[in-house]
This record gives sequence, structure tokens and C-alpha cells, in this order.
Amino acid sequence: MSLTSKLADIRDRLGPWTAHNIEIAPGLFTISPGAPDRAQQRAALYSNLCKTFLRRDLFNRTFIRMRVLDLGCLEGGIGLTFGLKGANVVGVDIRKGHLEKAEFAAKALGITNRCKWILGDVTHGGLWEQLGKFDLVICSGLLYHLDAADLIPLLRRMSRACKSSGFTLIDTNIAPEPKSYYEINDQLRLWGCHWKEHDPQKTYQERLVSGWSSFHNNQAFWLTERSLINAIVASGYEKVFKPLYPYHEWGHQTRDVWIALPGKDNILKLPLRLDPDPRPWAHPALE
Ligand SMILES: C[S@@+](CC[C@H](N)C(=O)[O-])C[C@H]1O[C@@H](n2cnc3c(N)ncnc32)[C@H](O)[C@@H]1O
Repeated sequence: MSLTSKLADIRDRLGPWTAHNIEIAPGLFTISPGAPDRAQQRAALYSNLCKTFLRRDLFNRTFIRMRVLDLGCLEGGIGLTFGLKGANVVGVDIRKGHLEKAEFAAKALGITNRCKWILGDVTHGGLWEQLGKFDLVICSGLLYHLDAADLIPLLRRMSRACKSSGFTLIDTNIAPEPKSYYEINDQLRLWGCHWKEHDPQKTYQERLVSGWSSFHNNQAFWLTERSLINAIVASGYEKVFKPLYPYHEWGHQTRDVWIALPGKDNILKLPLRLDPDPRPWAHPALE
């Protein structure tokens, strides 16, 4: 069977690719030539950030032997970009169909030996026991699909899976305002707002086809930026940065990328700012 027929067969069985437009052979794309693909743009940003934070250069193939974890990998487009440049990639997703597509693309690109796709729920501890340590942990488009109680446990597992010389990329939506909170303990309260993922009566099949969503949880909790930083720092990361250049710009101002460097919980002993940020947006005297 030709690659084109195999691609058509997967589209028939699993539905079309919804996000990652991967060129699996010259001129042959998983979606179509020229279809917009934010995953490629973001992968370019992430690999640029590796130059700074890992001193590795994607274009000089110094990603060889680098270990990358792509959480909620969808069709694998972000991980595959790293795999193509020599990195060993582990992609995790809760939907089997996505992983089948990712494996198909890896095979077409001749990099199955560097790519491993794991069916699993990132909120389940058992998954993490088999993963090991990574130079780069990517958590893109995933945190805002999870409910409040799962956020810190996931961030903790991510920090443990990140080598001390590595870094974690969190690409997520944040809450524009603190509408409610989730109490972690008397030192930490996460502020944010709720987001509906599924109607509770949705069937297994209906959840499966909402391919960009959570699976089990019907609602997600989006953190304000202040609470996101608190949650990261309380989960085994020492420093958090936000890249301004290079950048990837989304269509709204509440999605961005945060870079977390592992270390001890709040090693700098700066007080976490627990209130939901009562400060005015601008200098109060500004007309
Ligand atoms: C919005 S997509 C983001 C895809 C990709 N990371 C990107 O940035 O383009 C969210 C992905 O996370 C997966 N997902 C949602 N909840 C998950 C969970 N608890 N464990 C693993 N994967 C999950 C979904 O199946 C989907 O593929």
C-alpha cells in the first residue's frame, strides 16, 4: 500500500487530523499543504528556547540523545519535530487514536526507533513510574483541561521527571480574573475560574471524539497567572520565566508559555503571593 493510501485509510478509520499538519513525505501532509499548524510554530519556539536553557541547537542536530516528554501529545506533531532532529521522544495521550496517528507519522518519517507513544492519563501516578527523567518536559495545551485537584499533583510529577539540568515548558491558558478558588492548604489557595469540558451525561464515545478535551473530568480549572506561578513553585520548581522574544502569539492575551526550572520547592524563600492580586492594572494616578 502506498503512503498516500495508508494516510487515506487512517483518515477513514480514525477521522481527519485536527491540529498537527505533519509533512510525512515531500509534499504529503497529514492535513493538507499550507494548512495552518500552530504546533509547528510552537515547536520552533520550544526548540529555540532549548538553545537558551539547554544550550542545544535544533539546527545543528545537537538534540541527539536529548530526552523529551510530550504530555497530551495529540497527533504527535510537537514531539516529532524534536524526534526528527535526533531527540528521543515519549508522547503520552489519553486517546488511542491520536497515538496511532503519531506512530503512523513517525513510521513514515523513519524515526520510530526514537519515538515512544504511551496511552495513559497524566493524572494517574502509575503512568509516571515507567517514564524516567527528561531534559525537556512539554506540557502544552493540557493544564487547562484538568480540574483543580489534579494540578499540583501533575506539576509535582512533572518536576520529578525533569532532570536537574533540564527544563519544563508550560504552554497554557490562564484565567483572566480570579472568580473562585481551590484550597490546597492554609498556605496555598489557587485562584482562577471554571471551564466546562463535557456535559456529565456524555458517553464514552462522545468523549473520545472531543479529541482536544479532557476525558474523565467534566470541568477544568484555569489558574490566574499568579496562582499558576504559585502552583509551579510549590511543586518542586525553583525558578519560573516567561519568554517574550522569541514568542508565539495566540489570538487572545491569556495564553502563553512559562518556563520552569526544577529545584527545591521555593528554594529562594520568597513569600508566595496568596491573594488573588488586588493591585490595579495601571498606575492609579495615570489619567
Ligand atoms: C488541546 S490538545 C493539545 C495537544 C498538543 N499538546 C498541542 O499543544 O498541540 C490536548 C490533548 O491532551 C490530551 N489529554 C487530555 N486530558 C488528558 C489526560 N488526563 N492525560 C493524557 N492526555 C490527556 C487530549 O487527548 C489531547 O490530545
